[in-house]
Amino acid sequence: MLFTYLTLFLTLALRVWAHNATYQNPILPGFHPDPSCIFVPEWNNTYFCASSSFLVFPGIPIHASNDLRRFKLISNALNRPEQLPGLNTTKRATSGIWASTIRYHEGTFYVVTTHVYDDYPKNATNRFDNLIFTTKDPFDENAWSDPVHFGFQGYDTSPFWDDDGTVYITGTFAWEVKPGIQMFSINLTTGAMGPVRNIWNGTGGSAPEGPHIYKKDGWYYLMIAEGGTGSGHMVTIARAKSIHGPYESCPYNPVLTNGGSDYYFQNLGHADLFQDKNKNWWAVALSVRQGPDGSYPMGRETVMTPVTWAEGRWPVFEKVTGKMNGWHLDSGPAVQGGEGSLVDSNFESTFSPGYVLGPGFAHWRFPVVGNYAVSPKGHENSLQLKSSLANLTGHDGRSAEPKGQTFISRRQTHSLFEFSATLNVSELQKEDQEVGVSVFLDQLHHYDLGIVLSTQPATATKRARLVPQFRVRGITTVPAFISPTIAQIPMPETWTGKSLSFGINAKNITHYEMQVAPVGRKKDRIVVGYGNGLGLTWGFTGALLGVYATTNGGEGEFSTYVSDWEYVGKQQVNSLSSLMDRFGYFNP
Ligand SMILES: *[C@@H]1O[C@H](CO)[C@@H](O)[C@H](O)[C@H]1NC(C)=O
Ligand SMILES: *[C@@H]1O[C@H](CO)[C@@H](O)[C@H](O)[C@H]1NC(C)=O
Ligand SMILES: *[C@@H]1O[C@H](CO)[C@@H](O)[C@H](O)[C@H]1NC(C)=O
Ligand SMILES: *[C@@H]1O[C@H](CO)[C@@H](O)[C@H](O)[C@H]1NC(C)=O
Ligand SMILES: *[C@@H]1O[C@H](CO)[C@@H](O)[C@H](O)[C@H]1NC(C)=O
Ligand SMILES: *[C@@H]1O[C@H](CO)[C@@H](O)[C@H](O)[C@H]1NC(C)=O
Ligand SMILES: *[C@@H]1O[C@H](CO)[C@@H](O)[C@H](O)[C@H]1NC(C)=O
Ligand SMILES: *[C@@H]1O[C@H](CO)[C@@H](O)[C@H](O)[C@H]1NC(C)=O
Ligand SMILES: *[C@@H]1O[C@H](CO)[C@@H](O)[C@H](O)[C@H]1NC(C)=O
Repeated sequence: MLFTYLTLFLTLALRVWAHNATYQNPILPGFHPDPSCIFVPEWNNTYFCASSSFLVFPGIPIHASNDLRRFKLISNALNRPEQLPGLNTTKRATSGIWASTIRYHEGTFYVVTTHVYDDYPKNATNRFDNLIFTTKDPFDENAWSDPVHFGFQGYDTSPFWDDDGTVYITGTFAWEVKPGIQMFSINLTTGAMGPVRNIWNGTGGSAPEGPHIYKKDGWYYLMIAEGGTGSGHMVTIARAKSIHGPYESCPYNPVLTNGGSDYYFQNLGHADLFQDKNKNWWAVALSVRQGPDGSYPMGRETVMTPVTWAEGRWPVFEKVTGKMNGWHLDSGPAVQGGEGSLVDSNFESTFSPGYVLGPGFAHWRFPVVGNYAVSPKGHENSLQLKSSLANLTGHDGRSAEPKGQTFISRRQTHSLFEFSATLNVSELQKEDQEVGVSVFLDQLHHYDLGIVLSTQPATATKRARLVPQFRVRGITTVPAFISPTIAQIPMPETWTGKSLSFGINAKNITHYEMQVAPVGRKKDRIVVGYGNGLGLTWGFTGALLGVYATTNGGEGEFSTYVSDWEYVGKQQVNSLSSLMDRFGYFNP
């Protein structure tokens, strides 16, 4: 007994001593779900992570870090429409690129992932398009290959190189059809597959998925996610002496979950494991920062936790919170190369001549070529947006629009922030033409602040005429929470002909403030309405902040010019106590 206590004490003491590096979660704030990370000594001791992107293009963002604290966006593996034409037509917001696994083997980086046609029946054989992207240089966006397709009729595919050179892929079928983790051998060059075998069913949670295999101390460890990507989400693990099984479940499952806790970080699961430079283990996983009202509009983010994994034993994960103590981390040099910026950096651009829209910009499906131009002649220092027929919802809220949706955005990466874009709206001429800013999750979940031309009916003294109106529209399927603040007000006449700064601010974690002011006259700003974060708490994606231009189905294409784009992070709220300090939430 004494011995047991002593061992326990020593283990804890050792862990507290060894976990002497502090860092903050999430490590990839904002829409960065289903993380997968690796450490590559051959690349200047660099860590690389991939995340899911659904219908966002460019997709599959790749982040690199030398210290596991500063992560820089270096490329998007999916960056040319020709790589995956189907992304342009897939229906439903939950479709597109699901969980990507990144791995490095003998000089080549692999991203294995699935393009899911989520509107097809669960058992349709063409519902899942599995893909292998490769590159020898992840810092060069153009170096990512076209994908090799393979015919597995499931998702969450992850490769593993066995000692004898055989490559296996684990994945899962649509769980409603046939649950269980599957495995097969594959030729990564051709996509030719061996027979598919069911190797583990998990511990009984719904949707066993997100499998990865690791080999350690003569064991094959199979780590998976269970419970669905909501509040019951968890990480479980099993091991076997042969890769084919039988897999024995860990007696301490789930090895990681925040389910049933009142932690700020919820829905924790879908993990991947890697070893750092000092051979210490870490896990990354997805999690949401769930506010006191249940909202998490930033979606599923990437968190990291230290893992203690003694020889021959099961891995032990630390609880995931916002302020973490982890293994000693060397402070490496900043990552060189790649075209993007640090994941949580502020951003400003005036779109001067020669400016290149970098990998941090995101569209919904493919952008229509020619609708986005930097510093066109006569409009230097601006980004020209040509309007689309369709608005951000589109004709049915789920389908691709034949002529695209003009929208360009960047991820929200801070709990509290200020985003603004200066728009020249002088080309609006016809009824229902509209430009503005949006906080956008998908076609059925977004808040837009636009300026739109609407007919003002005739009065005794004035003829009917088109007048510019500021309008906030909230689109959501979250029924109880449709914003009560949808608003429309006429633009003050004295603002006519002025460049206007449209803004979205989050001053607290539950609401987006939608406001507009003439450039340089911030004090005259008008708060047109508020968007409620609960209305954007849905599905698989996270909040994007951007600019749109549409005729709302009407005639007459027009242009608008974005002359200044600014995003300033104000605070990363990552603990209940910081919420408490700032807003007095969670008062017992
Ligand atoms: C932190 O722990 C590591 C061992 O994991 C040790 O090498 C290092 O010296 C410690 N650093 C400090 C500041 O205690
Ligand atoms: C490693 O870093 C050095 C110096 O920053 C750089 O010249 C070299 O290209 C890098 N190598 C790789 C493989 O990233
Ligand atoms: C899929 O399921 C439906 C309804 O359960 C069934 O009618 C259909 O035959 C199935 N299709 C395939 C390809 O299994
Ligand atoms: C994969 O297939 C290619 C083309 O058939 C072949 O050249 C290669 O040897 C195969 N690789 C393995 C590991 O079997
Ligand atoms: C998984 O469950 C199915 C259905 O109950 C069963 O037939 C199969 O043997 C199980 N697989 C494993 C590896 O235990
Ligand atoms: C994507 O679809 C839109 C609308 O159908 C079309 O205008 C565009 O050319 C397509 N883009 C690509 C690259 O296929
Ligand atoms: C706005 O654009 C119009 C033409 O599209 C141009 O004539 C005008 O000078 C621009 N206004 C500002 C403030 O840049
Ligand atoms: C957040 O701000 C909005 C808009 O001012 C306000 O209605 C709401 O009550 C605030 N929420 C909290 C929890 O303070
Ligand atoms: C979007 O456009 C459709 C079709 O043109 C229209 O019915 C709908 O009212 C518009 N609304 C929003 C909020 O996007």
